[in-house]
Amino acid sequence: MNPISTAILATAGLLISGSVPAVDMPMEGTARCGKCHAIDSSSMSPSFMEISEKYKGDKDAVKKIAASITSGGSFGWDYGEMPAKGMGASDAEIQSLAKFIAGLTK
Ligand code: HEC
Repeated sequence: MNPISTAILATAGLLISGSVPAVDMPMEGTARCGKCHAIDSSSMSPSFMEISEKYKGDKDAVKKIAASITSGGSFGWDYGEMPAKGMGASDAEIQSLAKFIAGLTK
């Protein structure tokens, strides 16, 4: 298990134990998605929850979300442009974030 999945599992563990009100943004400080995105509120970009809803039921959700993160650009949300790979996420981080986002509405 890589450190990223460990971090996500740790976050999930906190959620289940009820000590935090909502899921935390994974890997804040590394990929810095949280500079623009929040889990469940949208101000300057769609929330991860909304994105998860968009791909709900799509069996290629993880692949498509990962492709969007990697290429950046605009996806029809009308918030502007997302920088490719956020602010420098690695491919491994992108994979793990895509799984995290897709998993929010499973
Ligand atoms: C500088 C701000 C910024 C950062 C940093 C950023 N995003 Fe975004 N992101 C956006 C904006 C703006 C959009 C919506 C673009 C549009 O209006 O279509 C977006 C859209 C998305 C989408 C939607 C793709 C789709 O297919 O609809 C995903 C997934 C996403 N971001 C994931 C991430 C992840 C993961 C990170 C961290 C690695 C990240 N973003 C970092 C601004 C950002």
